[in-house]
Amino acid sequence: MTQSMPTTRATEAPLDPPPEYQALQEESPIHWVTFPNGTEGWLVTRFDEGSQVFSDPRMSARRPRHDNPPGEEPEGAGAGEGGLPPLFVMMDEPDHGAYRKLLAGKFTPKAVQNRLQPYIDRIVDEHLNAIAATDGPVDLVQALCLPIPCLVICELLGVPYEDRDGFHGATEQMMDMSNPREQRDAGAKWLMDYINKLVEQKRNNPDSPGLLAELIRIADEGGTILTNSDLTGIGALLLFAGHDTTAAMMGLSIMTLLTHPEQWQQLHDDPAKIGPAIEELLRYLTIVQFGLGRVAKEDLEIGGAQIREGDLVVVAMPAANRDPRAFDNPDIANFDRKMSRHLAFGYGVHQCLGQNVARAELKTVLPRLIERFPDLKLAVPPSEVPMDTHGTNYGVRKLPVTH
Ligand code: HEM
Repeated sequence: MTQSMPTTRATEAPLDPPPEYQALQEESPIHWVTFPNGTEGWLVTRFDEGSQVFSDPRMSARRPRHDNPPGEEPEGAGAGEGGLPPLFVMMDEPDHGAYRKLLAGKFTPKAVQNRLQPYIDRIVDEHLNAIAATDGPVDLVQALCLPIPCLVICELLGVPYEDRDGFHGATEQMMDMSNPREQRDAGAKWLMDYINKLVEQKRNNPDSPGLLAELIRIADEGGTILTNSDLTGIGALLLFAGHDTTAAMMGLSIMTLLTHPEQWQQLHDDPAKIGPAIEELLRYLTIVQFGLGRVAKEDLEIGGAQIREGDLVVVAMPAANRDPRAFDNPDIANFDRKMSRHLAFGYGVHQCLGQNVARAELKTVLPRLIERFPDLKLAVPPSEVPMDTHGTNYGVRKLPVTH
């Protein structure tokens, strides 16, 4: 019988990938497996071979889902989620590159520093003040980890923050792999209709703030041809990729620090360590929990396996980022680790466009939280923190703390 892709974490080790990965990784860099939705394909568990999959132009990003519930028809490759227009994360060159060229300049470290950092500083302090003003346990997901990324992506795109419950609810509905397909499609459709309406409003009011209106102005000046469908695809992708991921990473990072007092103390004593600490947390936690797929455009070889044209190849990034061939003592969160790169943001041409936005948020929130609340504690035992085991992104559903 074909091996199944491991998806269940050990209860006593909620920050580690499913334990079956270790034996798989030892045995071979790549295995033929059955994915959660019942389809079969290749699963890559080592770092070098995972990097190879993401950087090989013979691998297409137009892939079918592999992580949806069993018994469902696999969704069509490249069409995005059921209700969404094509998204550039699912496109190949040259189409994908045209989108990146248009957007890359808005997401450099310098652009994020100039355009977003003062805003991030302000909203983080406001939220920490509000937490300080409350007595008793606070759920940090609702009080900090969700609002900060939502506010930042709204500011960046020019999306009204009042609409957050709608777009966050739709994103959760779409990304929860335990939901039946109709429900996930309904979430995707809600997002598409929402952004579509916003794009139309902004076309009538191109001087309004934010990236969507800016892209409309660039198009109107003849710089690019952007249809409403292109803009909706860009807006929807940035909106859902930009807030849910960062919220999950923030909550899980805080949970990690609260359960690793030595690492908490290190950041308390030396906040300048935050840069390497964030990279290590990204590697150690690797929230894209079911990995990412590609499809072979021709016959090729990976890790000694013969891949056939059309085969689905999934990189299990949580396992690859714990590969002892690439990282010494990979299961330890070591803020002094010398590391040149990890796969938490992917690799190659599709590597996360918003990674500097995510870094800016995490680098602001974590040291300020520690400085402001040095005695912060979990209000429940770690085993009672509810984990999001079904979402595309692993994270905490709630994080009750006392300060
Ligand atoms: C900790 C937070 C984040 C994580 C872990 C994360 C992870 C990823 C990963 C793994 C990919 C690669 C997808 C692939 O190769 O198929 C990706 C792509 C992408 N991410 Fe992120 N992301 C985060 C935050 C953000 C933010 C804040 C934004 C927007 C402001 C964003 C926007 C995007 C976009 C647009 C893509 C598609 C890039 C392309 O296809 O060229 N992400 N992200």
